[in-house]
Amino acid sequence: MTADAQSAFASYRDEALAAIASAGSEDEIEAVRVEFLGKKRGRLKDLQALLGQASAEDRPALGQTFNQVRTEVQGALESRQDALARPVEAVSAIDVTVPGKRPRIGRRHPLTKTMDDFKDIVSRMGFEVATGPELEDDHHNFVALNIPPVHPARDPLDNFYLATAGVGGDDDAVLMRSQTSTVQIRVMENTSPPVRIVSLGRCYRPDTIDATHHCMFHQMEGLMVDEDVTMADLKTVLKQFATAFLGDDVSVRFRPSFFPFTEPSVEVDVLWRDRWLELGGAGMVDPNVLQHVGYDPEQVTGFAFGLGIERFCMMRYQVTDIRRFFENDLRFLDQF
Ligand code: DAH
Repeated sequence: MTADAQSAFASYRDEALAAIASAGSEDEIEAVRVEFLGKKRGRLKDLQALLGQASAEDRPALGQTFNQVRTEVQGALESRQDALARPVEAVSAIDVTVPGKRPRIGRRHPLTKTMDDFKDIVSRMGFEVATGPELEDDHHNFVALNIPPVHPARDPLDNFYLATAGVGGDDDAVLMRSQTSTVQIRVMENTSPPVRIVSLGRCYRPDTIDATHHCMFHQMEGLMVDEDVTMADLKTVLKQFATAFLGDDVSVRFRPSFFPFTEPSVEVDVLWRDRWLELGGAGMVDPNVLQHVGYDPEQVTGFAFGLGIERFCMMRYQVTDIRRFFENDLRFLDQF
């Protein structure tokens, strides 16, 4: 009798667990519940009857088995009910096989990228990066750079003077800087030699805008002052710089020129892929400029250069129109 009851419990348990596992819907699991655990006609009632028929001596052990079986089947049923009750959409909401949406990743503007490259290259040659204001005074934009009061560079038609300020030789004049050479002065005013800096930034001139001119553009200014700095140092630095940026072993050539703040002054060209391209101006810092900031021209000499950043960037990436840089057209910007 006890053995019969035990095996009846075991097969009830096995059948119930199998039925629960194969139930595929809420209706099916409900049918399984009614069959195995239903209060009125469920098979659990038959087991209960067996328990009732057992001898007083067998009953405690059988009762324990009964309880274990019932608890196990009930537990299995409930977790299956839970699983089947979960909305189908929630289960399938993440379909890992669907191709992902590529997030749109921003990037640096080509000019920013070029300036970052420039800084990298010159810092390897020991130049530090200096900055200065874009809104400048007459002193730093002209006077200290040896540009006399009646010089054409001060022409109101060539500069963005602020409306309130005086023009042409007025000490209080305020303008959007027309060149980054202003930063040379600001650095030398605050540092004693040796000096080895570059400064990259915006300049402003009321040029007529076309494929190669803009009223706002960027320059990299360089300045090195120390004992015995020569024009050969200048040429070496510029050649190394152009070679590093353009990736080819380029040649650099100097053409005689004139700038008020350098003597001698040169225009710098680079021979790249069989063409001479103009990079900017350079020269040996004029003794007047050194004197103006309190340096002794008998003790130190220096070179300076000013390079157009847009021009370099256009060469390197074959951009044919400077206006593209400032239109914020993603079809253009996405290409860098
Ligand atoms: N400031 C000049 C310009 O904007 C460029 C330049 C020429 C800068 C010679 C220099 C220099 O430092 O030595 O045209």
